[in-house]
Amino acid sequence: MIPWDDVSKKFTETFLATPTWIARAPGRVNIIGDHTDYNGGFVLPAAIDREVRLAARVRDDRKVRLVSSGYPAPAEIDLDNLQAPKGNASWSRYFHGVVEQLETGGLRLPGADIYVASDIPFGAGLSSSAAFEVAVGTLYNAIVKGPLAPRDIALVGQAAEHGRFVKVNCGIMDQYASALGRRDHALMIDCHSLDSTLVPIDGEHVELMIVDSNKKRSLGASEYNTRCRECEGALVRLGEANGAMFPSLRHVPASTLERHRDRLDEKMYRRVRHNITENARVHDFARAMAAGDLAAAGHHLNASHASLRDDYETSCEELDFIAARVQAHAGAYGCRITGGGWGGCAVALVKPGTAASIFESLAGDYAARFGQAPTLIACNTADGASASPHPK
Ligand code: GLA
Repeated sequence: MIPWDDVSKKFTETFLATPTWIARAPGRVNIIGDHTDYNGGFVLPAAIDREVRLAARVRDDRKVRLVSSGYPAPAEIDLDNLQAPKGNASWSRYFHGVVEQLETGGLRLPGADIYVASDIPFGAGLSSSAAFEVAVGTLYNAIVKGPLAPRDIALVGQAAEHGRFVKVNCGIMDQYASALGRRDHALMIDCHSLDSTLVPIDGEHVELMIVDSNKKRSLGASEYNTRCRECEGALVRLGEANGAMFPSLRHVPASTLERHRDRLDEKMYRRVRHNITENARVHDFARAMAAGDLAAAGHHLNASHASLRDDYETSCEELDFIAARVQAHAGAYGCRITGGGWGGCAVALVKPGTAASIFESLAGDYAARFGQAPTLIACNTADGASASPHPK
């Protein structure tokens, strides 16, 4: 994690003043339940100790200067005239989305100078953008003493993604995990009711391992929005066939899908089948963890990978390679692609202390085959976002 002292120092070097506020929001790894959140289903992510850290100083006008450790171009924003940032400053569009949503929701925000530091890899499926959104929402809510609970801030972040500056129809998982995660726990989210419960992860017997394929992806440019549309289309057709609409794909029984299979094209059928089986796996996985049955838990991870590869088609050769090699290793219980897909990371459940040797067993072959090395991302679970006045 980038030390707070360094973040403050960077702020002072950049803005020639001391910060008055700090805020942080973690990235997340999704343990199981992918592409179910925007279909009202179940997901089980955990917040991780890779995070976005903000140091800020409130201004007495409505200008924002935003400088990031990860991007060379700073962004200058007029809160009275939000314009889509262009070119090198386009990284700041998540900020625009969040402040627009906060003000639409009734908060009046002051200008600020903000330094952004992050150690969440970009485009790796670990929710660097959701963490940025949640950090900005948490910071501003603290500054204006706003009424927003972590859950509201997560919803603001999601609305920012859907809005005119980002235009990705994402579900609620990433922002919820970043806002509501807890150390030593995963977060089971019912994405229809938006209720969430904490699921303990027994660190004495099991560790999470993340392998970054280093194949970059971007949700906006990916087929993500296409998948959302395929699912919406399938929901309408199944509702018509059923004689009554279903609130979401999560409410479609497997028997209904089979009965009306001929109403869907083959792709749509498989997208829905993935949702139905994945929702069941999220619950099966949580039950297996609670019972301490790590072999069963790992089996559900492997089945999730197969479903995302074959039915939902969000995997790629690189992630299939990593998942197969980890799954075959005696130190691992199970492994799957995690997050949006088409690149990014795999997550595995492994015996404590085995992650480095599992990684070594595949890294060389992976590099030889794909021409770039994978990265082992060592991390632990973490608490959700927080903000406070800068300690003097
Ligand atoms: C991205 C989205 C999430 C979720 C995952 C896939 O991370 O932001 O809402 O849909 O993809 O599970």
